Amino acid sequence: MFMLHWVRRFLSLSKMRRRDVNVWAVCGVSAWLLISTWLVTSKQNLSAPLASWDPRKSWSASWGANSSTASEKVDLVEEYRDFYYSAKFEYPDPYTLGKDLLVVQVGPEKGRQLASVDELEFYDSDPRLIWSVVLEHLLQDHNGSESLPFSWYDWADFRDYNKLLSLKKTEISCKFFFQRHFDPSKLAEIEIETGEFLFELDRDYYFDVLSEDSSADVEDRMQDACVSSLDAGAGARSTVVTGLKDKVRPEVYRFQARNFLLNTVENPISITLLDKDSGSWQFNVDRMSRKNIRESGLLDSYLQRNKVENRDHVFELSEQFVRFENSGSARTHRVNISEISEEERNAFHEPATHIRKSDFEFDALTRIQELESKVDELTAHEKAYLKSLRVSTQTHYAFAPKYFREPSDLSDFGSLGWHHDARFFNGAIFQDFLDARTRLDSMIRTFQKFLKAHSLISWLAHGTLYGYIYNGLEFPWDNDFDVQMPIRHLHIMAQHFNQTLVLEDPREGNGRFIIDVGSSITTRIKGNGMNNIDARFIDVDSGLYIDITGISVSSAMLTDRYAAEFYEFRDSIGTEIKHSDPNLIANETDLPLQVLRSRADSDPNYTDKDKKALEKLVAEANKEMSTSKSPSKYYSAEQRYNLNYELDLYNCRNHHFLHFDMISPLILTRFHGVPALVPNKYVTTLRKEYSVSPMHGFQTHKGNVFVTEFGYWCTSTVLKQAMNKKGNQEGIEVINSPLNNLNINDVGLLYNNIAQLREIELLSLLYSSREHSTYRLTELKLQYANGTVHQKIESLRNLEEQLGSSLTPLTKDPYIQHLQREKWRALATPDNPSSKALSEVDTGIANDLQNWAELANSKQLPFLKKAASDEHSESIDYNQVDDIDRSLIFRVDPDLRTKEDD
Ligand SMILES: *[C@@H]1O[C@H](CO)[C@@H](O)[C@H](O)[C@H]1NC(C)=O
Ligand SMILES: *[C@@H]1O[C@H](CO)[C@@H](O)[C@H](O)[C@H]1NC(C)=O
Ligand SMILES: *[C@@H]1O[C@H](CO)[C@@H](O)[C@H](O)[C@H]1NC(C)=O
Ligand SMILES: *[C@@H]1O[C@H](CO)[C@@H](O)[C@H](O)[C@H]1NC(C)=O
Ligand SMILES: *[C@@H]1O[C@H](CO)[C@@H](O)[C@H](O)[C@H]1NC(C)=O
Ligand SMILES: *[C@@H]1O[C@H](CO)[C@@H](O)[C@H](O)[C@H]1NC(C)=O
Ligand SMILES: *[C@@H]1O[C@H](CO)[C@@H](O)[C@H](O)[C@H]1NC(C)=O
Repeated sequence: MFMLHWVRRFLSLSKMRRRDVNVWAVCGVSAWLLISTWLVTSKQNLSAPLASWDPRKSWSASWGANSSTASEKVDLVEEYRDFYYSAKFEYPDPYTLGKDLLVVQVGPEKGRQLASVDELEFYDSDPRLIWSVVLEHLLQDHNGSESLPFSWYDWADFRDYNKLLSLKKTEISCKFFFQRHFDPSKLAEIEIETGEFLFELDRDYYFDVLSEDSSADVEDRMQDACVSSLDAGAGARSTVVTGLKDKVRPEVYRFQARNFLLNTVENPISITLLDKDSGSWQFNVDRMSRKNIRESGLLDSYLQRNKVENRDHVFELSEQFVRFENSGSARTHRVNISEISEEERNAFHEPATHIRKSDFEFDALTRIQELESKVDELTAHEKAYLKSLRVSTQTHYAFAPKYFREPSDLSDFGSLGWHHDARFFNGAIFQDFLDARTRLDSMIRTFQKFLKAHSLISWLAHGTLYGYIYNGLEFPWDNDFDVQMPIRHLHIMAQHFNQTLVLEDPREGNGRFIIDVGSSITTRIKGNGMNNIDARFIDVDSGLYIDITGISVSSAMLTDRYAAEFYEFRDSIGTEIKHSDPNLIANETDLPLQVLRSRADSDPNYTDKDKKALEKLVAEANKEMSTSKSPSKYYSAEQRYNLNYELDLYNCRNHHFLHFDMISPLILTRFHGVPALVPNKYVTTLRKEYSVSPMHGFQTHKGNVFVTEFGYWCTSTVLKQAMNKKGNQEGIEVINSPLNNLNINDVGLLYNNIAQLREIELLSLLYSSREHSTYRLTELKLQYANGTVHQKIESLRNLEEQLGSSLTPLTKDPYIQHLQREKWRALATPDNPSSKALSEVDTGIANDLQNWAELANSKQLPFLKKAASDEHSESIDYNQVDDIDRSLIFRVDPDLRTKEDD
């Protein structure tokens, strides 16, 4: 028991000292030995392989005897600075054939040199490897007829799963993937065989005495969800998960879902490779087979074509990318969406983007006919889209099945499962604040680049828009993003990109996301409530997603927030039906619930389940009628559609309404440093949902405080410590001025205190967000300035062109972060670098931030000065833009609509 406590204390101490980077470096080897030893000695049923385990042998195999020599050459203090305070897209080391691909990276044979790729049993799908090989292949595809061999293995994170693939002795059966928690002796067996932790997050759980999972429950979950060929030997290769089941802990579900992804999830229809944010190339994927680059022979072809014999061969992209860009293959695969108008191609290029009222209505039945009339010319995406439209239009909303699946019932995970797509769940990422921020940042950046590349109209919505208004970033406590799209653009996206794997330009980052559009997008009301979200942009490495909702005219009951509009125009609109929903099939999908229910009672084609569902919906509708304050509740569905159409009021399937004038013209801005669109009247839009303070400055929200001078949110717990009002924090200066009115010296002290408290993740975000928040404040000043709308639009255009494009990402690419962390763990030891050296880095950053605050205060920030360039004959100093009254600014919307807009 003593040992157990010691291990636990050791882990948490090291965590506090230098969180995350070094769980392994500081405590790695020793803690692993201790924990594993503990697992070995404390478990009752010591099986033979465990007993013969020799810790020292595994130690030298997995921790390379050369690390000390290497660490002399690497400046670890610089590595630390890069890890926390630089978002540069730069690989720490080159990826070579001999050193990386042909060395076993995990498992009992870790470190073994392979003679050739024929011996590869598993590998890390480093993007440089995959892209080198795949681009080489794509270069050969001149006429665009081939489809690309595909396996999720090459395009998603299987690093930890490789440990299961590496096992030679330990057997992994179905039970492993469906227990509530891992069987500790099985876990020990795996970790001892591989010589390292199978997973890192939340391991403490396994130090406690674990309650048994009832075997009936396990059997129940496994039922119909897993097949295993018992005689196929060790490892995880012989076990295939065919269905996902939650009610297990996140680390178990994670491996269950990775197995499912590898073996069962359908291949995407295509991959869409972004050309920065200016366009893309799309390649169809072979959907029939699952072949990674080794199994498909692509890797061999690459090596042969490039005559690679040297083990020093570097897999490197830049030259190859240039060859690809200029190739015939790139020309044939360039995406060009004919449905996008010339005018729309200016979206994301002009300060204001006008959309049309007709973008908010979509006639799917006509679209089906159009597509059917040229069925021989349709792309793979279009065929799938056509099929989906047929099903969607023929299904009454009462019966639309739930489309998106989230692991909402994971054990010991609260409601966090909701923030992940079930198929791509990859661990309890929210337990690592920085990792979660990094993934979310990469996701929204890539999404916005995807939108811009294709001129797809979408704007920030809900909490995402709310966070945006303060500093151009999402709230640091948000776990997803919300955007809205006019229904026409949602359909364009479905037609060309549903089930595509979007790949960030590998010259800019390694984000990989699947676009998934629901199966009932022609229903525009809440219906049975199971499909409020129309589409998702899902990170295949974490399952985190962006929620995309279509906005359109519908027959939804108007919310009482729009009662004024209703009473003002009701009489002039009248009750005559001039506009009706073009997606409804008469006497089928247009039936009111009660009529449908009586039909179901007399028609044997309806199942009992259908009838039950109808029963429930009718009850809900009756209840809504009695409680609803909707001004249009006594209108028929047809009348409501007509009314909403006439009032220019559009809604999502969760019945959030927007007025056309609130949205158009959309305003071009920057979100997370990349171009994004927001509704014209964003304050009014937000006030329909939230009580937005008129102030742009100090305020509190859900236990977080917006510190005006930081332009960023901090948790009140950390701030309390950093303010040290009571003087009880040793070594932390007392801040005397109040948080809502800090004097400039205290701002510097506060930064320094945060560094002293070693709140490194916060410090890192304060540092990287400083340009974003400064940019947003300058933009606010221009948006709310006096002067004509035309003048304002022009100054916003200049700001975007001169400063917007110089914004750097908030966080770095997640894969680079991973490589840097691995390097650190391999080289750092408890004494090297010293805590002192690292503290000096943090203090230096606090000083830089203090400088920034002082220069901002004295209106001398170099960031805001733009010298004359070719396009701009005048140099501009944005420090000199007139100040605004920040205490009242959000009382009203900025006035950004010209006369012509009204
Ligand atoms: C360690 O370094 C020596 C000499 O520098 C080299 O020959 C050997 O291959 C290295 N071992 C590993 C595991 O990298
Ligand atoms: C396309 O190119 C491949 C070789 O890359 C060739 O085998 C095939 O016949 C070509 N198809 C057409 C339609 O030209
Ligand atoms: C895309 O297609 C449109 C018409 O459909 C055409 O006007 C435009 O030039 C094309 N753009 C590119 C880059 O091929
Ligand atoms: C998107 O693809 C999925 C999976 O194939 C399909 O079920 C869904 O209906 C599609 N949605 C649309 C709008 O095409
Ligand atoms: C609607 O369909 C029912 C049978 O499902 C039929 O009896 C009825 O006549 C149809 N009504 C109209 C207006 O076509
Ligand atoms: C039940 O479905 C079958 C086949 O789809 C159809 O032929 C039949 O008319 C339906 N019955 C009723 C009562 O609508
Ligand atoms: C805008 O004009 C009003 C009234 O003329 C004035 O009080 C205010 O200071 C001006 N604001 C700015 C930012 O110049």
